[in-house]
Amino acid sequence: MRQQRVRLERDGDIAVIVIDNPPINAGSAAVREGLMAAIATLKSDASLQGAVLIGAGNTFIAGSDLREFGQPLAEPQLPTVIKAIEDCSKPVVAALHGAALGGGFELALGCDARIAAPGTVVGLPEVTLGIIPGAGGTQRLPRIVGIPRAIAMICSGERVGSAAALAAGLIDAEAEGDLRAAAVGHARQLTGRKQRLRDRAVPAAGASAIADASAAALKAGKRRPQVQAAIDAIVATASVAIDDGLADERAVFQRLRVSREALALRHQFFAERDSAKHPTLEAAKPRDIRHIAVIGAGTMGSGIAIAALDAGYEVLLLEQEAAALERGATRIHEHYASRVKGGKINAAVAAACEARLTTSLDWPRIAEADLVIEAVFEELGVKQQVFQRIDALSRPGAVLASNTSYLDLDAIAAATSRPQDVIGLHFFSPANVMKLMEIVRGKASAPDALATGLAVGRKLKKLPVLTGNAFGFVGNRLYAAYRRQCEFMVEEGASPEQVDAALEAFGFAMGPFAVADLSGLDIAWRMRQAQVATRDPAARYVHIADRLCETGRLGRKTGAGYYRYPEGASRPQVDPAVAALIAKARSDKGIAPRELVAEEIQRLVMLTLVNEAALLLAEGVAERATDVDVVLVNGYGFPRWEGGPVFWARERGAEALRADLDELGALSGPGFVRGDVNQLLDTKA
Ligand code: NAI
Repeated sequence: MRQQRVRLERDGDIAVIVIDNPPINAGSAAVREGLMAAIATLKSDASLQGAVLIGAGNTFIAGSDLREFGQPLAEPQLPTVIKAIEDCSKPVVAALHGAALGGGFELALGCDARIAAPGTVVGLPEVTLGIIPGAGGTQRLPRIVGIPRAIAMICSGERVGSAAALAAGLIDAEAEGDLRAAAVGHARQLTGRKQRLRDRAVPAAGASAIADASAAALKAGKRRPQVQAAIDAIVATASVAIDDGLADERAVFQRLRVSREALALRHQFFAERDSAKHPTLEAAKPRDIRHIAVIGAGTMGSGIAIAALDAGYEVLLLEQEAAALERGATRIHEHYASRVKGGKINAAVAAACEARLTTSLDWPRIAEADLVIEAVFEELGVKQQVFQRIDALSRPGAVLASNTSYLDLDAIAAATSRPQDVIGLHFFSPANVMKLMEIVRGKASAPDALATGLAVGRKLKKLPVLTGNAFGFVGNRLYAAYRRQCEFMVEEGASPEQVDAALEAFGFAMGPFAVADLSGLDIAWRMRQAQVATRDPAARYVHIADRLCETGRLGRKTGAGYYRYPEGASRPQVDPAVAALIAKARSDKGIAPRELVAEEIQRLVMLTLVNEAALLLAEGVAERATDVDVVLVNGYGFPRWEGGPVFWARERGAEALRADLDELGALSGPGFVRGDVNQLLDTKA
């Protein structure tokens, strides 16, 4: 016997069917079973004239229980519940608050009317999980908004707020006062009437509007199979009877639900959710943050300032140099102006954000800040000096954060009298866009300072991942290993463009050599020079990047790097001079080039990432294995639908992986450090 998740209360002649499955009232087998029983009572009880479906707590059904999606779905399934509502002669009104997403919104679309509390969000985000709506979403939504808009909404997984939902007809009314009372009143008004969406005609739409919406959705959705499947299901509503459309939609849903891509996307979903859990910080209470000071108005500082302004903080942007401050202020102003011009935000919101910004060269004003984020040059000496100054001027209890990419946080904290207040807040560029944020734990960082970093990260709408303090933290350490492996492969016989093409075909937004050219080869060059003294002389070292830099090829900004960038050319051009330089580097080492096909390039990259992930986990730099997947997908353009290296490793299994890593070690040569995959594969860790 499953636990009761639905109860039927009575308000005169109206049944109030309460879904009570905390915390988010997820649609589960027990919920569906309870709904079936309640609808049967509604049908058979002559004293009842209609019903209201409502969620207990602070939300309607915010989504389906994804844990059920990997197994055969238990009966009754959602389409059966919706059919029972549609077949019942008495009206059923959905009362929505919080979120009505996925199966929750499909259930609402199966009702005769939808009343929502202000602030409710509705939407069908299934496509983002590798599936399509499977309980009529693709068939009923177009009957309200038409085919082109339904394509845009379903293929992007857009969440629509109640005001916009009302304007679009997705809900029938916003309830100003008591939601339950308003919905009961509405159900009573409908007594004796049904107004099912299935009986509505699909609004006519022009072929070109449909084609445009489809093309835009496919492009934005990276041409993933579920996007095309959703489009096909929606377009079919123009010509197919609804019951056939529903059956076809369900069949596609069932097929995609168990596909590898959906499995990988569910893995990411759970990995992101888990990354927010920190057993060691549970007891820590985040400090109260209202004012944020950002030090350094460069690329990162201005992006961080924008992210903080967008989240409603008061921001003080500080510099050492008037011209740099001016450039930063202009960058921020231009950002808001272009957002307004592009219709992304309204002018009043932009003005309110800009009004919360103060730019200054007057350092004592740091005393106003509850959180200081340093984003000055990446040099330990410079950062230590800046932290000394911050320490002298900040109020007691302020959290002091560094945005360093690679430097030792403890060495930075040691420059202050309060290392317990120092943490790393590692943003990714552009800082106002990228979801990932690494929260770095120094050896003295106080739990409540770290909890503050996590809370601020969430308020900035980022995905904060807690990491240990080690060179490159989690993300840049993985990326460095990945880059190194790609350079090995070039030395062994692949061309940079072959490597880039293989990884772009795999789904990376850009290949590593195109990325290197874009960010400039000089940064890594300087870093390699700084490491000369500490590098293991026996370890394999590829000289190709150094040779490029020595000839002045520093990437896009100098017109040439791994590729050529002639004036006016839209794409990087392959350069025979680079091929010659690589050929020479190989012959200098006596390497006979071998052929590497795309599959091998992709496989060696995955193995390298798996190996590095195992090392990071063993060293305690990554807290849990799946954090690696969260970091790569949200900060480095790793294709979400591939799940991540840890997903890949678990699929492959221990025995095969050990053999793979033997092979990787042999290919990589001296300096290779082998990780132990046991901890990585332990799904309970
Ligand atoms: P940037 O060179 O664009 O900006 C640095 C700014 O700091 C300049 O405006 C400079 O005038 C200012 N500055 C330097 N010394 C200062 C001091 N003593 N007091 C006050 N201001 C000072 O550099 P960017 O790219 O913004 O990087 C800043 C930090 O962010 C570095 O630690 C970097 O490693 C880190 N970072 C950079 C990323 C990127 O993609 N650019 C990504 C993640 C982190």
